[in-house]
Amino acid sequence: MAPTAAGNLAMPSSAAAILLLWWKGLSDPNGALANWDPDLVNPCTWFRVTCNGDNRVIRLDLQEMSLSGHLSADLARLDQLQFMEITSNNIEGSIPPEFGNLENLISLDLCNNTISGPIPPSLGKLKSLKFMRIDHNLLTGPIPNELVGLSNLTILFANNPRLRYPGMGAVDEDDTGC
Ligand SMILES: *[C@@H]1O[C@H](CO)[C@@H](O)[C@H](O)[C@H]1NC(C)=O
Ligand SMILES: *[C@@H]1O[C@H](CO)[C@@H](O)[C@H](O)[C@H]1NC(C)=O
Repeated sequence: MAPTAAGNLAMPSSAAAILLLWWKGLSDPNGALANWDPDLVNPCTWFRVTCNGDNRVIRLDLQEMSLSGHLSADLARLDQLQFMEITSNNIEGSIPPEFGNLENLISLDLCNNTISGPIPPSLGKLKSLKFMRIDHNLLTGPIPNELVGLSNLTILFANNPRLRYPGMGAVDEDDTGC
């Protein structure tokens, strides 16, 4: 019988490995991220990736790159990430509940994709989060009370036809585009 180590084999161990594995699961028809070089020790010189002085990833700026595919729960292991900007792509599927572990996240901008499913209540753990833009998607259900309770957080949620907003005033929020 073959040894089984499936769980660990699938688990990328560095920021570069996490990002590469995610990118391999995406469609990138323009080769926008083709310079994501697996031979580098860290991803700090990769296009649209920014690190801090300790070579830890703090920003992903992946706006308008025609990327399609899903968000990966593994991205939640980039634990210094402050800005996740994935505006105006064709990302589908749901927001991984694991994103509630991105404790340094300041901005989560997913505007103008086709992301569906509920907003994970776990995002209410993100005490650093100031800006969450989820407008122009296909999210469903209520905005969780856990998020409504974060007084420093601005949520832009227009143009999600199936999203409900209990406890929030602006039901027909102005659509400002992305
Ligand atoms: C959504 O993204 C598409 C493709 O990048 C773009 O053409 C369109 O203008 C964007 N819509 C908004 C509201 O930003
Ligand atoms: C909001 O931000 C202020 C200033 O950074 C901080 O003192 C306060 O604790 C924050 N409130 C919450 C609920 O996180």
